[in-house]
Amino acid sequence: MYQVIARKYRPQSFSELIGQEHIQKTLVNAIASNRIAHGYIFSGQRGTGKTTVARILARCLNCVQGPTATPCGVCSSCVEISASNSVDVIEIDAASNRGINEMREIRENVRYRPARDRYKVFIVDEAHQITKEAFNALLKTLEEPPEWVIFILCTTEAYEIPNTIASRCQHFNFRSVDFTEIVNRMKFIAAQEDIDADENVLSVVAQAGEGSVRDSLSALDQAIACCGKTLRVEDVRALLGVFDVDSLRAVADAINAQSPSKMLEIVQELETNGKSLQHFSRELSRYWRNLLVVKIAGKPTRLIAASDAEQQSLLEVAASFTEEDLTRYLNLTLELYKALQTSLQPRLHLELGLIKLVHAGKLQSIEEVLAGLKTPAATRSVPPAEPNALLSASTRSTAPRPSGFQVPAKAPAPSSKRPEEVSANQLVDTNPDNLAQLLFNALSKAKLDFTADAIQHSAVTLQGSELLIRVPKAMLLSLKDPAFQRIASEILGKSVRVRIESGENVIANSLEAPASESRQEAEIRERALSHPGVKRFQELFPDAHVRTVRNLNE
Ligand SMILES: Nc1ncnc2c1ncn2[C@@H]1O[C@H](COP(=O)(O)OP(=O)(O)OP(=O)(O)O)[C@@H](O)[C@H]1O
Ligand SMILES: [Mg+2]
Ligand SMILES: [Zn+2]
Repeated sequence: MYQVIARKYRPQSFSELIGQEHIQKTLVNAIASNRIAHGYIFSGQRGTGKTTVARILARCLNCVQGPTATPCGVCSSCVEISASNSVDVIEIDAASNRGINEMREIRENVRYRPARDRYKVFIVDEAHQITKEAFNALLKTLEEPPEWVIFILCTTEAYEIPNTIASRCQHFNFRSVDFTEIVNRMKFIAAQEDIDADENVLSVVAQAGEGSVRDSLSALDQAIACCGKTLRVEDVRALLGVFDVDSLRAVADAINAQSPSKMLEIVQELETNGKSLQHFSRELSRYWRNLLVVKIAGKPTRLIAASDAEQQSLLEVAASFTEEDLTRYLNLTLELYKALQTSLQPRLHLELGLIKLVHAGKLQSIEEVLAGLKTPAATRSVPPAEPNALLSASTRSTAPRPSGFQVPAKAPAPSSKRPEEVSANQLVDTNPDNLAQLLFNALSKAKLDFTADAIQHSAVTLQGSELLIRVPKAMLLSLKDPAFQRIASEILGKSVRVRIESGENVIANSLEAPASESRQEAEIRERALSHPGVKRFQELFPDAHVRTVRNLNE
């Protein structure tokens, strides 16, 4: 009778197991030091060895030569456990035996000594399916287990095992298995089965398994069923729907060539070859993800499922993009994938999505821009300033800024008049910045720091005889201070009404520092601002503000 590869090649001892070293090591030590727990939870991704390890453990414990980490494999215990017909190793599929009656039966069974072997091992598959009541019945057994009883609960959903149970068990988490290890295991199996399959073929098969050994082996079975003893990479790829790295690379190339028409050709080709467009977008997301990972790693990495040749190709392509670009493309492609799930016109959506990638283009990295600053394209008409004045610039800041770059250098110096001296009829200057400045100075002087701070973040405008102050919501209360009302009317005169509004995105006025710059400071500032590098920076980042000019000699 034909037996599927996954079952035929189920590891019979720890030495055959791939991955899961952490589990293997702990169990081998436990066996050697005779510290076997009565309850185990094996959790993790499907097809990564939970049931397999449960059986190996049972063999280790019950082998005639045991307990041993290297069961003989030939005694009747070993043989029966592999064939899963040992009386003392009981496998229960909790998916179909999940009720309280089954658990009661187990509880009964537990009381009797093993028929022949050292231990009675209960392997409960899909343990998360057990009902709450049934778990409670099981709990009694786990609380005071007879010395010969061992429970192994296998599950893909560990969090569904009640804490009361989990805290009485040792918990092992099975990891998805490394790509190369799966490929190597399949190489071994292919040789045993006399299958002609090179590394490229096997890496396609392994990709289809996504870290599950069983899924990879099932894919291998499928490939053999379809293609016979000789597996060719194109056939297997077509069968399993795995896209060639090169065909995905065409998308990256089209972006590099800034060519929407190339993108359209790619879609055309997918259509003529009857490829699923949804699947393509999914594979494309994975491709961006892989590029991003090799970009970050800077060398071939086991974090991605790809053969050596594919890793090289990925590295090459990744070199032509920045991390930011790749992240952006990944995002866009994920959106595209989502849109394609429900799209009635997938072709249209895919075309649009790919063209969008071209238009999203490549952003210059900040490093590149800064490098460009050193070789200014701007005219060098301004004599270079002394290099000791350094600028720190930022895009529009919300932090209180001592001076705003938007304030021209010849802006009126902050008022040195006492607030009381200013009255509404003196307010010839209706420049909102200056109004805000007056208020700010007066409030600072009156030590109303919170209110001054609020003004600094507000937009102040004079509309006729009404002074409108828009303040960020969070600071509204600071302006409700009666002292503010008083100071405001003192500054503005009785004829002016103050109206306060709160808003979300208030764009504040530009204010000068309360203390005026010294003459020397102003000079340094002037010099720094006329530095060609700074000028060029401001051309490149028109929204940038110069916040401070620092003298590095100080
Ligand atoms: N770590 C592994 N090393 C070698 N082969 C493995 C490994 N994990 C799984 N396999 C292969 O996959 C098959 C299924 O494994 P197993 O039944 O142990 O998976 P599982 O983790 O119990 O999965 P499920 O959650 O679906 O029950 C095995 O027969 C074996 O061929
Ligand atoms: Mg299992
Ligand atoms: Zn044995």
